[in-house]
Amino acid sequence: MAATAIFWYSFSLIFFYQFHQSHSQQSYLNNKQLDCNKNWTTAMGFVCNGAAKSCKSYLTFRATSTYNSPVTIAYLLNADATEIAQINNISDVATIPFGNVIIVPVNCSCSGPFYQHNASYVLKSRLETYYSVANETYQGLSTCQSLIAQNDYDFRNLLVNMEIHVPVRCACPTSNQTAKGFKYLLAYLVKSGDYYEKIASMFNVDVESIYNANELSSEQIIHPFNPLLIPLKSELNIDMINTSLISPLAPPPPQLSVVPVSPPSGNKSSRKWVFLGVGIGVGFLLLILLLGFLLWFFRYRHRKDTLLGGAKNDDDKKFDSESVDVYKALPEKESQSWSEGVKYAIESLTMYEYEELQNATGSFAEANRIKGSVFRATFKGDYAAVKMMKGEALEEINLLKQISHSNIIRLSGFCLHDGNRYLVYEYAERGCLSDLLHDQNKVTNRYGQLETEGYSSSGTLNWKQRVQIAYDVADALNYLHNYSNPPYIHKNLKSSNILLDGNMRAKVSNFSLARTLNADNQHKDEESLNLQMTRHIIGTHGYMAPEYIENGLVTPKLDVFAIGVVILELLSGREATRHQGEVGKVGEEELLYATIRQVLEGENVREKLRDFMDPQLRHVYPLDLAYSLAQLAKNCVSHDLNTRPPMTEVFVTLSKILSSSLDWDPSDELEHSRSLSHGR
Ligand SMILES: *[C@@H]1O[C@H](CO)[C@@H](O)[C@H](O)[C@H]1NC(C)=O
Ligand SMILES: *[C@@H]1O[C@H](CO)[C@@H](O)[C@H](O)[C@H]1NC(C)=O
Ligand SMILES: *[C@@H]1O[C@H](CO)[C@@H](O)[C@H](O)[C@H]1NC(C)=O
Ligand SMILES: *[C@@H]1O[C@H](CO)[C@@H](O)[C@H](O)[C@H]1NC(C)=O
Ligand SMILES: *[C@@H]1O[C@H](CO)[C@@H](O)[C@H](O)[C@H]1NC(C)=O
Ligand SMILES: *[C@@H]1O[C@H](CO)[C@@H](O)[C@H](O)[C@H]1NC(C)=O
Ligand SMILES: *[C@@H]1O[C@H](CO)[C@@H](O)[C@H](O)[C@H]1NC(C)=O
Repeated sequence: MAATAIFWYSFSLIFFYQFHQSHSQQSYLNNKQLDCNKNWTTAMGFVCNGAAKSCKSYLTFRATSTYNSPVTIAYLLNADATEIAQINNISDVATIPFGNVIIVPVNCSCSGPFYQHNASYVLKSRLETYYSVANETYQGLSTCQSLIAQNDYDFRNLLVNMEIHVPVRCACPTSNQTAKGFKYLLAYLVKSGDYYEKIASMFNVDVESIYNANELSSEQIIHPFNPLLIPLKSELNIDMINTSLISPLAPPPPQLSVVPVSPPSGNKSSRKWVFLGVGIGVGFLLLILLLGFLLWFFRYRHRKDTLLGGAKNDDDKKFDSESVDVYKALPEKESQSWSEGVKYAIESLTMYEYEELQNATGSFAEANRIKGSVFRATFKGDYAAVKMMKGEALEEINLLKQISHSNIIRLSGFCLHDGNRYLVYEYAERGCLSDLLHDQNKVTNRYGQLETEGYSSSGTLNWKQRVQIAYDVADALNYLHNYSNPPYIHKNLKSSNILLDGNMRAKVSNFSLARTLNADNQHKDEESLNLQMTRHIIGTHGYMAPEYIENGLVTPKLDVFAIGVVILELLSGREATRHQGEVGKVGEEELLYATIRQVLEGENVREKLRDFMDPQLRHVYPLDLAYSLAQLAKNCVSHDLNTRPPMTEVFVTLSKILSSSLDWDPSDELEHSRSLSHGR
């Protein structure tokens, strides 16, 4: 049934495509307002490219419980209440039902390179941020980026009762539009469930003029809280508007473009609506899309905290070729919980006083030092980790506050004191993976008891735990590469940056070197999008990929290489680099990743692999799965980045190895290895 709907939808798109022609007017915001750290040009406002430097224009606003009358809305948007009342055919003080759309006429003018309408807003709560003001209070009519650019207050220093300047997005028609008879532009707030034809019929305009005005085409996706420009030929009045469509109470019309998908049983989440935007479809592309989608869907059915924007998959073209765009637009309920998550992530950062941190860490007592500049803190009986950083920590804060993933360490707060920054993280009880894997070895090495008893099994990681850790790390990296917005490269993955919680589940930490993948320019081909160069090589010897060391090439394959090394550590218990030869003497450094090829190639692979495996596993592991895992690691650390698998593939392979490992019964192996050693 879904397939039929997709077919008809793409058919209708092909049909519309024939009539589409594009003339640049204003570029569409395309969810760039979510990325407050970047001052995207399109997020700063509509470009001042019109025939006039100032003009009358229209905004739309949905009544809220606070702003629900022409008077209050006029106050918020710096507009004229009488004009609002007239245009909407209601009285000045009428109460507008919650969610109803109100048309607001405003004066729009160029201010520097962008059009804007000036409003101002007084902060009312400690929880308000530039983002919440732009998205929630102003419903996306402003953006955090333009607020940051036009207000002097740092985002961390916003206080109640501060008055902030709010540039509201608006635009005047270009000479091309004027030539076609358009006199006004209305900024319409898209609601989930809206689509081009519906919006066009709301305002009785030609859908082509909407594509043109926003530099969009029929196959592109529009998002809620991204104003869409509607060109109008005459002054707006209420009877030009099809209120039956605009009203939030109107039943959603059945549409071919909407493919409802019921979640598989066992999924607690409510229904998900999936819009599939398909380009100039050729028959088999649909099939690929369907397959890709099913794969994606089943892989991600267990989580719903991932994406709203286009599911970008830089590595794996199967899922995202140029003409196929898989996108999940959520119904209002779903999207609310998603955005609440985002809002929560931003607002939930606690600002600590330095004294609070001092109290919590016993004045940074040596006894509370976890490692380096990381201290254990106790807040109201709960543990947290406090990291002291000199200089800029903004990158890490900005990244972590946007990301919510159970395998990525959660940042809960921060503090500025004396030029130092203190980041407060969730506490990982079991410390870092490198300590768990290698410290034991050092002890046993020192006493020369490598392959015998002498250590407690409670401190050692068993096979299932090791596979689970590899899987968790791949999950986190796959999320960073393909599902976070913007995508990130960790760049500094190593076993000392993998923390373990009380259940031995991994949490990737230390994002101080993380880089965003520049996914802004969608016209660039994927190759150039993924290639970034740096002259500044920083990282950890033993984990850095050759192309990075040699040429400073930064791609997601850096993380693939590093996870390969981590998997080798998990298999062998060895460190990524170690001195060869006797302790104390100068010797060659042995790189762990350089050893795996010899293990897996040539004769006696089983024997060589057994020798390679961590003695602490005491032969209690399924050799065939160990072989698969070693093979995966070997591919990850291959010298040529193009032969390394993309992270999606690493993740899929690991999930298979994990599920087989969970089915595996260690007692079989124990029996087996006992009989072997007795046989020897
Ligand atoms: C106006 O339209 C012409 C083609 O009809 C196009 O070449 C030109 O770039 C357009 N100008 C603007 C400002 O969009
Ligand atoms: C964007 O940010 C960069 C550096 O952060 C700055 O040089 C540039 O002027 C900014 N652009 C705008 C439009 O604010
Ligand atoms: C917009 O400009 C016109 C003419 O310049 C003026 O009469 C009108 O009051 C202005 N409206 C607002 C809301 O400032
Ligand atoms: C405006 O509202 C009045 C009464 O509420 C109604 O009689 C009139 O028809 C409405 N005008 C338009 C253009 O909808
Ligand atoms: C709007 O605000 C900007 C920045 O504060 C200012 O430069 C511009 O003149 C203002 N525009 C109007 C019409 O007041
Ligand atoms: C923006 O704010 C609105 C209104 O509260 C909310 O429904 C929406 O989900 C928010 N969007 C994002 C992306 O946070
Ligand atoms: C409003 O939209 C509905 C559904 O598209 C349509 O049936 C109706 O004729 C429209 N009304 C007007 C006045 O355009």
